[in-house]
Amino acid sequence: MDWAVRICEPYIGVEEIEAVVRVLRSGWLAHGPLVEEFEEEFAKLVGTRYAVAVTSGTAALELMLRAAGIGEGDEVIVPAFTFIATANTVLAVGARPVFADIELEYYTLDPESVLERITPRTKAIIAVHLYGHPADMKTLREIAEDHNLLLFEDAAQAHGAETPEGPVGGLGYAAAFSFYATKNITTGEGGMITTNVEEVAEKARLLRNHCQAEKYLHVCLGLNYRMTSIQAALGLVQLRRLRRLNEARRRNAELLSKLLAGTPLILPRERPGYRHVYHQYVVRVDPEKTGITRDELAERLRRRGIQTAVHYPRPIPDQPLYRSLGYPSSSRIAPNSLKASRQVLSLPVHPRLRRRDVELVAAEVKRALSGEV
Ligand SMILES: Cc1ncc(COP(=O)(O)O)c(C=O)c1O
Repeated sequence: MDWAVRICEPYIGVEEIEAVVRVLRSGWLAHGPLVEEFEEEFAKLVGTRYAVAVTSGTAALELMLRAAGIGEGDEVIVPAFTFIATANTVLAVGARPVFADIELEYYTLDPESVLERITPRTKAIIAVHLYGHPADMKTLREIAEDHNLLLFEDAAQAHGAETPEGPVGGLGYAAAFSFYATKNITTGEGGMITTNVEEVAEKARLLRNHCQAEKYLHVCLGLNYRMTSIQAALGLVQLRRLRRLNEARRRNAELLSKLLAGTPLILPRERPGYRHVYHQYVVRVDPEKTGITRDELAERLRRRGIQTAVHYPRPIPDQPLYRSLGYPSSSRIAPNSLKASRQVLSLPVHPRLRRRDVELVAAEVKRALSGEV
C-alpha cells in the first residue's frame, strides 16, 4: 500500500552509510574495536559503568537474566502488557514469568499489582519502559529493596528516556536495550545490556561468546550473541543523533496532543519529572466516548493512507503459548492490560515526519472520529 504517512521509518543519513561502507572496506566485519567503542559511548548515555553489545534486544534480556543468575525455580514479575520478549526470555532461562497488571495512565507496571504477585520464590521484577515512557522506578525500587528482589529494566523502547533519578538503563540491577529497525536508534538488529555490576557485565561478555575465557577454553555454556562491527558503526552514528531524534519525536508528540486535545481520545501522558521519548505515540479509543472502536478508527485511517499500529492486541497471558502453559486469562489477573490491548492505537510520531504530516494525521483522526467513513 502507498501510505501518505507511515507508522515508522528509520532515520538513516549519509553518515550512517559512509560509516558502514568504511567497515565493509576495512575487511573487519565481525566483532571488533568498534563494538567496544559503541559500548563505551552507550554506557556514557545511560550513566552506567558497563555496557555489553549483543545481537538483539531479546538476546540482551536473556543474557541479562542469565548473567544475574536467574533460572530454574525462580519467579520473575513482568507486566502482562508488553512485547512478548519480556516474558519469553524469562521462560528461556528456565524461570517462571508472573504477570502483574499495568497502570492505564502510563501503560507501565502497577506497583500495587507487583506487590500482590510477590511469593517466596520471587527473585526479580522486570520493569518495561513501554512506548518510551519510564516505569515508576522509584516505587518499584522501594518494593525491590523491601523484598530483596533484583529490579531489571526492559528499556528496548526507551533510549534516552529520563526519570528524576536519572536516565533509564542505569536505574536497576541491569537493563536491556534493542536496536531493532523501528526503535529510536537502530543497528538493523542489535541489543545492549547496561549495568553497574561488574560480575553481571563479565558474565554477559562470557555468555555472548561461547563462554570462552581464553582461546578455545570454554568455562560454561554460552552461545554466539556477538554484535558485528557493521552494526556498531551504524550504532555509533545513530547514538550521536539520538538527542535530536528524540527531540523530533517529542515535538511531533506535542503537536499531535495539541491538535487532538478536545477529541474524545485518551491522549498519552508524561509522569511529572519524567522524559517520555515517544517510541510510540499511543492514544486510547474508548468506544463509550468515541462511538467507534479502535479497529474502526484504524480502518478509517487506513483508507485515507494513514498507517497506524496496535502495540499490542493481546496481553501476554492470553497468548496461545501461555494458555498452553496453564496461565489464567488476563481478564482475571490483569484487567487494565486487557482494556489497553482492546483500546490502544499507535499514531505516526517518528522523526522523519514533517509538520504537515503530523497535521494531516491529526486532521484525519478528527475526520474519522466525526463519523466520516
Ligand atoms: C519491550 C520490548 N522488549 C524486548 C524487545 C526485543 O527486542 P528485539 O526485537 O531487538 O529482540 C522489544 C522489541 O522488539 C520490545 O519492544
